[in-house]
Amino acid sequence: MSTDTPSGEPLQERVWRNARLACMVRGAADIGLIARGAILVRGERIAFAGDERDLPPGGPASRESIDCEGRLITPGLIDCHTHLIHAGHRAHEFEQRLRGVSYQEIAETGGGILSTVRATRAATTAQLLTESLPRLDALLAEGVTTIEVKSGYGLELGAERRMLEAARELGRLRPVQVHTTFLGAHAVPPETANDADGSLDEVARNMLPTLASEGLVDSVDGFCERIAFSPAQIARVFAVAAALGIRVRLHADQFSNSGGARVAAAHAALSADHLEFTDEPGVVALARAGTVAVLLPGAFYFLRERNPPPVELLRRHGVGMAVATDCNPGTSPLTSLLLALNMAATQFGLTVAECLAGATREAARALGMQRDIGTLEAGKYADLAIWNVEDPAELVYRMGFNPLHARIWRGR
Ligand code: NIG
Ligand code: FE
Repeated sequence: MSTDTPSGEPLQERVWRNARLACMVRGAADIGLIARGAILVRGERIAFAGDERDLPPGGPASRESIDCEGRLITPGLIDCHTHLIHAGHRAHEFEQRLRGVSYQEIAETGGGILSTVRATRAATTAQLLTESLPRLDALLAEGVTTIEVKSGYGLELGAERRMLEAARELGRLRPVQVHTTFLGAHAVPPETANDADGSLDEVARNMLPTLASEGLVDSVDGFCERIAFSPAQIARVFAVAAALGIRVRLHADQFSNSGGARVAAAHAALSADHLEFTDEPGVVALARAGTVAVLLPGAFYFLRERNPPPVELLRRHGVGMAVATDCNPGTSPLTSLLLALNMAATQFGLTVAECLAGATREAARALGMQRDIGTLEAGKYADLAIWNVEDPAELVYRMGFNPLHARIWRGR
């Protein structure tokens, strides 16, 4: 039954059997649970996922068989919104905020994003990696097999490049797929503090085309907010991304209803993220555009926000919801996707099935990678997380406990 590769070597065939499968296929009831399932993998891809009785036959000689002893298998988890690469931390700002200073006030007085920009500009690629790898390892230990990583703490060509190169390097140092996002429109850099439009000229005319031509940009993001950029300014950057054939995503409506969801939808964004202040017309626009809502409960919790995203409207209008850590030093120093799921349930009211879809199928859509990852289906990459849990809900219910048994990336 084993197939040959073009080089004539037999393709490795492995089967994980005696497992419960949370297939997460769209349209299936709930999480698409199969009580006694098996997954057959050829090379890097799933050849079969389903009831063990339907497993295609193969001789024991050609196939390695792994008995999962009834454990639960989900698709490998996907963290679709992180600022994982950065230097330093902002514990001092956390203490300021505990004394009552707001995130916006800190940002307006030169702290916030700009304090991480200073630290990140001063760091070499090697230093960025040394600081960021422990964060990545924490995520991988919980079954993450794909991660999105943004730039946006460089805000000048060289430092943005170093961030994106470091992000790409993560994928060579660890068994994980890295999706890179250029976030040049994250904040106005200190050198052009009074000239947001001028800084965007540099982002749109120089940085984005240059970094894209170097193969460092899988998608483009921006921060649409009163303390950052307006919808019209974001639209300029998105127009350049479109001309380069690169999909976009947006930090939208995090602190105010600033038209972020609508500008994201107008540019057929893969995702619109945060959305705490998005109104119904914004939700309708996202639904029409097929844009995924990425919910970031870590930032909501850490900033002690009061206004949750409009989950009921997102549901009613059929907008897919993903959940991510937003791992960053200012608003979400969170390196546990499982804890983000727990927060999405407790703070935003997502169901367990929505949380699990949010870290798998919907997160894959938010990255435009749904053909390759996000569900347990034949043809997709064999990215799996195998869990020591009795009830799938335990993945969302526990806080600060890691029940991962094994993590498989591309069949290994
Ligand atoms: O996703 N909102 C903008 N960007 C980040 C925060 C960045 C920072 O404070 O360093 C976020 O919350
Ligand atoms: Fe973010």
